[in-house]
Amino acid sequence: MTQRKGIILAGGSGTRLYPLTMAVSKQLMPIYDKPMIFYPLSIIMLSGVREVAIITTPADQEQFRRLLGDGSQWGMEFTYIEQPSPDGLAQAYTLAEDFLDGAPSVMVLGDNIFFGHALPDMLRAADSQASGGTVFGYHVAEPQHYGVVGFDADGTVNQIIEKPSDPPSNYAVTGLYFLDGEAPQRAKSIKPSPRGELEITSLLETYLVEGALDVQTMGRGFAWLDTGTHGSLLDAGNFVRTLSLRQGMQVGSPEEIAFDNGWIDEAQLAERADLFGKTEYGKYLRGLLSK
Ligand code: DAU
Repeated sequence: MTQRKGIILAGGSGTRLYPLTMAVSKQLMPIYDKPMIFYPLSIIMLSGVREVAIITTPADQEQFRRLLGDGSQWGMEFTYIEQPSPDGLAQAYTLAEDFLDGAPSVMVLGDNIFFGHALPDMLRAADSQASGGTVFGYHVAEPQHYGVVGFDADGTVNQIIEKPSDPPSNYAVTGLYFLDGEAPQRAKSIKPSPRGELEITSLLETYLVEGALDVQTMGRGFAWLDTGTHGSLLDAGNFVRTLSLRQGMQVGSPEEIAFDNGWIDEAQLAERADLFGKTEYGKYLRGLLSK
């Protein structure tokens, strides 16, 4: 199978977070001790994918470049793509068509945070699917705000609907999509929804009707967090803080994952640690070297 490539969709206006987002892109705001985009980036890294396109608004691209560079500091390769206006999640695939060049992809929304035991195994399993798509269903209290999965009496997924007023289940589709190399072609065939967006659920539906979509359920031992409102942003920060202080381990450290993956060696990790000097993060990275 062609090596899978990654996409982080980090455009959009973040209007629900005004006035914070008037100065800085939402996906660059901190979730406790890291910029938000480090969390979806770490998901792509845990999937074993090194080549990643970062899709942003034209105005925000410079900020992302300053933070993330070309990816070589983590043994990765980043490409930057502009999305002129937020016309929908499925548009990411047409914008990234040349970048993907027929390869399968893993796309993560720049504001989605995942945490859970055996998450890397789940990601690697999805990566190993050569054709079709894999998405993840997660039980939420208020499914009407998401893409929602409907099930048959025997538990087979029979529909995926965007923000239904009468949700068929409590299972939301998370912002993590493993799709095969056909995604850009399929994305071109879908029509904008009544709210004027190329919906990701419409793209997923094309796979579903062909029996080519695997919906994996993330159990209650997983955390999938949203950062769409001021309250949920703070909640996510507190969640990461609680975990990392209790465990003495980082959540979403690109340096740590790159080192574990063998993408950077000890000398490169030491160089990164030096960059962070006497900070807690610098100390943590030096600690990894002595383990
Ligand atoms: O978070 C999971 C949900 O994400 C899914 O359950 C839904 O099916 C999916 O449509 C999406 O719903 P949201 O209402 O959360 O989408 P939102 O418009 O908030 O966009 C999600 C992120 O993607 C946000 O950080 C902005 C960015 N974005 C959005 C659009 C529409 C873009 O970069 N470009 C876009 O065109």
